[in-house]
Amino acid sequence: MTLLPRSLTTVALGVALLCGGAHAAAVRERQSFDAGWRFTKGDPAGSAAPDAASQPAFDDAAWRKLDLPHDWGVEGPFKQEYPGETGKLPWWGVGWYRKHFTLPAGDAGRRVYLDIDGAMSHAKVWVNGQYVGGWPYGYASWRVDLTPYAKPGSDNVVAIRLDNPEKSSRWYPGGGIYRHVWLVKTTPVHVAQYGTFVTTPQVSKAQATVSVQATVESNGRAAQVQVATDIYTLDAAGKRGAAPVARQAATKVTKVEADRQAQLTQTLTVPQPKLWSIASPQRYVAVTTVTENGQVTDVVETPFGIRSAVFDANNGFLLNGQRVPLNGVCMHHDLGALGSAINERALERQLELLREMGTNAIRTSHNPPAPELLDLADRMGFVVLDEAFDMWHEKKTPNDYHTSFDEWHEKDLRAQIRRDRNHPSVIAWSTGNEIPEQGKPEGWKLAAHLAEIARGEDRTRPVTSAYNHTDSGYNGFQNVVDIFGYNYKPGEYGKMHASAPYLPIYGSETASTVSSRGEYFFPVSDDKSKGAANFQVSSYDLTAPPWATSPDVEFKGQDDNPFVAGEFVWTGFDYLGEPTPYNDDTTNLLNFTDPAQQARAAQELATLKKIAMPSRSSYFGIIDLAGFKKDRFYLYQARWRPELPMAHLLPHWNWPERVGQVTPVHLYTSGDEAELFLNGKSLGRKKRGPRDYRLRWDDVVYQPGTLKAVVYKKGKRWAEDTVATTGAPAKLLVSADRAKLRADGKDLSFVTVTIADKDGRPVPRTHDRITFKLSGPGAIVATDNGDATDLEAFQSLQRKAFNGLALAIVKTKAGEAGKLTLTASADGLEGAQVTLDTQAQ
Ligand code: GAL
Repeated sequence: MTLLPRSLTTVALGVALLCGGAHAAAVRERQSFDAGWRFTKGDPAGSAAPDAASQPAFDDAAWRKLDLPHDWGVEGPFKQEYPGETGKLPWWGVGWYRKHFTLPAGDAGRRVYLDIDGAMSHAKVWVNGQYVGGWPYGYASWRVDLTPYAKPGSDNVVAIRLDNPEKSSRWYPGGGIYRHVWLVKTTPVHVAQYGTFVTTPQVSKAQATVSVQATVESNGRAAQVQVATDIYTLDAAGKRGAAPVARQAATKVTKVEADRQAQLTQTLTVPQPKLWSIASPQRYVAVTTVTENGQVTDVVETPFGIRSAVFDANNGFLLNGQRVPLNGVCMHHDLGALGSAINERALERQLELLREMGTNAIRTSHNPPAPELLDLADRMGFVVLDEAFDMWHEKKTPNDYHTSFDEWHEKDLRAQIRRDRNHPSVIAWSTGNEIPEQGKPEGWKLAAHLAEIARGEDRTRPVTSAYNHTDSGYNGFQNVVDIFGYNYKPGEYGKMHASAPYLPIYGSETASTVSSRGEYFFPVSDDKSKGAANFQVSSYDLTAPPWATSPDVEFKGQDDNPFVAGEFVWTGFDYLGEPTPYNDDTTNLLNFTDPAQQARAAQELATLKKIAMPSRSSYFGIIDLAGFKKDRFYLYQARWRPELPMAHLLPHWNWPERVGQVTPVHLYTSGDEAELFLNGKSLGRKKRGPRDYRLRWDDVVYQPGTLKAVVYKKGKRWAEDTVATTGAPAKLLVSADRAKLRADGKDLSFVTVTIADKDGRPVPRTHDRITFKLSGPGAIVATDNGDATDLEAFQSLQRKAFNGLALAIVKTKAGEAGKLTLTASADGLEGAQVTLDTQAQ
């Protein structure tokens, strides 16, 4: 549930005030608690007691000052000897955060809560020296109640200790309080945490039935409460319509016992609802008002959407009754060079790029996402498969969540669903990914238990799990989910459907094709194990690990079996860690189910391990770590946006060493036929067959010059693309994704530097070292280039270009508007600059 627009720092809700006068406080406040922390890595040295820093008198003056969100891991340094599996960054260990804050005297008698959207991991919290609770799972959002020890009218100290175990993840988890933190204040009679649940049991064009359930809590005494609900439209900016579209006044009085909760449900009718959809993500907000003896004690806003979302065993996924193929990607939580520290603009940029490709669905692999991701998905029109765990009781790495699973899984799963169940974007709950229990005779029982927990929290959405064992389609696991997800099994869809014709099926994880942007290796081979050299992987998009496939093989699996609801490609963006096929950790061998494959991989790894492998980020992304599109972007765009006239040729055409040699040319296009020309001479017209997803001219003999594809669709000219041999690198081009920014200390501009020839054409295969400089009120917070092997610190102001491109990420300063100028220079090349405007809020 999203209570409030997250862009606001402090929000006071409620027309009624607790008391009159200048110091009156609103009934509910939610304040950003991100600013003004002190941080130290490790337990403070020389302290007598291990938890000495939890005590108010502890002297933290020497600790570093910082604002949250914070990820200590991304600060580096990268080290060759750190595991590539988790990004070669130091994300593990103990970290302390402390913050002094003053509570106004008027807060006496109010409840005071600390809400943590995510802390990695095993958090413990003290306020004024008293332990108030904690939460082990680093991806969970959770609350501690500060009320018993908080001191209104005076200084308070909150201290948080994190302990992030080594060997606890298969990817880069980050370390620290890496999501937002909030201070929430309420009256004693208030809506509980995640205490509203809005469902839309009946949806038609004429009207929608909206059910709004509120869980009211009364602290310290019993209360007789009433609840009223108003529903408003929300515009794209999150602004309410002037008048409610539906109202339900308080009708009955309900008793809430002291320190207990009571649930009240109201049903409203919204006439002619504007349905939430991917193309038109219309939102509404339910405003829940709690009163006691006519006095308002709480007001909570719950944004929601009116839509029907159904999976059908024969027709896939239906949104508002219409079939929508799930054109999905899996995403880990890191934001590339920014690490795991949440930043809304960085997330929004990811989604913008994915949308351009035609993506309409995100799987939050393999854990609950930042709440902001769901807010953005609601607003931008994406559906989300919201996943809970990467393992259950059985481990994947020695210190992972399996150590907490028995005690915490129920709390974690319930908290996740309660937090997220009002988001129209969320269409299913996934209880796990490739969980090792699949291999156990009665492993399905645990799957059933988790599914029951999920259904107990939300009966309106299906429960699923992502299975990589073929057997799981037949051995009991299939019976405990409402929709069945196969990882990397396009060849099984038909068999599975025949054996369980009642069960909707989708590709929960697909392809895992690997590539490095702008790298091409010869000879081009259809053997998916080929195409890797020098810690890079060829971009002909045919290379994949043994358990995986090229995108084309997965497409065929879906087209042969049209009942499949769609897919979630591994992955939308490259992420930190898991640099298969150059992963220097053996954990990824767990991915093999076939012993022969396992043996072969172990052998390959043993050979590779003799070399020091530098890779720190994945090769799976359709878009690289810096946010630059790989060729594959266009293969998916061609399929997912068939109405968009587009054509994309590969490789680049700068091959002085290949004159006279066979250099295959591939074309990704939404057209169905194309003619290829080299220096004006036709190399033949080719038509796509029923299961062809790319056009190939495999015997092109390289000559420098211009390669051009002219594309047709149903016989008509549709699109074209040209790739030309460029001149020598001559200058830099600089462009910013956004030139007008908010001066709020959070907004970002992603600035791309391109190495170009004298005519401004991007020159591939260039790796010049770029130096960045910024003047004005802002900072370059990170640089990158998408090269998985680059171990230069992300904070460096110098960055080698990778195949012609480099990135600088500029952040504004809070309250300081003005002009920012970013300059890029490189030896022997003409430099360039771009000016950005930051504006006051
Ligand atoms: C899958 C796994 C993912 C990732 C992927 C790489 O088996 O679920 O987390 O490891 O393999 O191909």
